[in-house]
This record gives sequence, C-alpha cells and structure tokens, in this order.
Amino acid sequence: MSGSWGPASLICNWKMNGAIQKVQRTLHELRDQLDEKGLFSNLERDLKIIVCPPYPYLSLAKQIFIGTPLHLGAQDMDFRDSGAFTGAVSGMMLEDVGCNTVILGHSERREFFGETEEFVGRKAAKAVELGLHPIICVGESSQVNLAGETKNFVLNQILSSLQFVPSGSKLTIAYEPLWAIGSGRSAEAEDVQNLLEALAREPDLQDHILEFCYGGSVGPQNIGSFLTQPTINSVLVGGLSLKPQDLVRAIQTAVEVTQQPKNTWKVAS
Ligand code: PGA
Repeated sequence: MSGSWGPASLICNWKMNGAIQKVQRTLHELRDQLDEKGLFSNLERDLKIIVCPPYPYLSLAKQIFIGTPLHLGAQDMDFRDSGAFTGAVSGMMLEDVGCNTVILGHSERREFFGETEEFVGRKAAKAVELGLHPIICVGESSQVNLAGETKNFVLNQILSSLQFVPSGSKLTIAYEPLWAIGSGRSAEAEDVQNLLEALAREPDLQDHILEFCYGGSVGPQNIGSFLTQPTINSVLVGGLSLKPQDLVRAIQTAVEVTQQPKNTWKVAS
C-alpha cells in the first residue's frame, strides 16, 4: 500500500449545532478572515478545509463558499440511493448539494444511533461508488485504552467495515479515541503516530489505500504536533469548528506545518 494523498485536510464536524444565523455568521467570518490573511492560495495547495455542517445548512454553506477553496462535507449518509427510508439522506443527495466528502461511523453515531460496522462499511462502499470521499471514524474507550488493547480494537473496527468496501478503494481512517472527543484531553501526537504507523503496516490493511487522520480535542495549540507526524495526514475537529477565530489560528498553524516537507508514508513496501 502506498498513497499519494496530496494536501493535508482539516475536517470540521459541526455535529448537531447551529441555526441559520449562526451558520451564516460563522462561515462568513471564517471565509473573510482566511481571505484577509491571504490564506486562500495555501488552501488550494497545502491544506484542504472541509466543513461539515448539519444537513439543512449544506446548501447555505455551499453558497457562502462560492469562489473560495473551502470544501463541503456531510456528517453521515445512507447506503441506499432512494426510496421509502424516512429520515434518511443518500450520498447522491449530498453530491447534489455540493458535498465531496462524508464522515462515517463517528462514535456518536455508533453510540446514539446504533450504527454497526456493517452499516459503516456499506455506507463507505456506496460513497466510493459515487465518488464521495469517505472518512471512517474509529477509536477506543478509555477502558480499552487502559487495558492496552487499543491497536487490536481499532484494527478490528477498521477491518469489520472495510470488508464491505472494494479493494483498491481510497479512504480516510480517522482515529478518534472516545476519551479525547470533546474532553479537552487530546491523545499524545507520538502515541497516535505509533499506533497509526503500526496500522499502516498491517498486512490485513493492504487491500485499500488508506490515509490517516486524528480527531479528539484538537485546537490551535496542538494541531501542529499532529500534522507534523509522518503518518497523520489530516485532523478532524469538532468544537473548534464553531469558533472561527480559533479555527483560523489553527488553520494558520496547519498551513505553516504542512508547507514543510514530510515523509507522509512510512509503510512496508
Ligand atoms: P472535538 O470533537 O474536536 O470537539 O474533540 C472531535 C470529533 O468528535 O470529531
């Protein structure tokens, strides 16, 4: 497995937050500050920003992003195309409103909506089929972490979903330890690097082209420590998405570090 993944990504997961005015205010501020600081050219070259607001605001966000390098993503999707599935949103609908990325299997979907590995895998397969880039979230609880079972647990989560996704597909795996999400206590960048490097070398994961992402209490103060790790190509942020000034500071740092050359792949050939 080897990958040419291009620029790093910063994925902004709004979760179930916002109202029309809040979305407008936040995204206008984000866009205008990035423009004022002259960061648009970096965002075309060094760092891809993908904003994932709740479904009702996708079109609004797309309008605000016209003429900017900002990308649109969604927080989930169904694996079916259309039909009698009340409340569901298909990947085709997401593409229709301008999304190019979709977050799948976030721990909150798994915990509060009973999302299974099979669902996550089928959704990822459908996203690949449609040309939407899937970001599969995985991560262990603190109990699993304390028991020293993180690698086995996460590997098992990834494999259980990837079995539904055709070989050769390109996907992002977002490692988000449950204890780090929204807690203000991120994982140590070196620990994440060691875990992801071990996963990247796993013989069982060589059938797909994987890029790795970290998520969990990432802010302007620690984003650089993650993006400088060779196997971490992207970061996923929750709370930071809603604070445009901090987000812009994090983006500035991310742009600085992603301009430095780094060996993004350290996998067995
Ligand atoms: P956080 O959330 O950045 O607020 O910790 C991350 C996530 O849930 O994806």
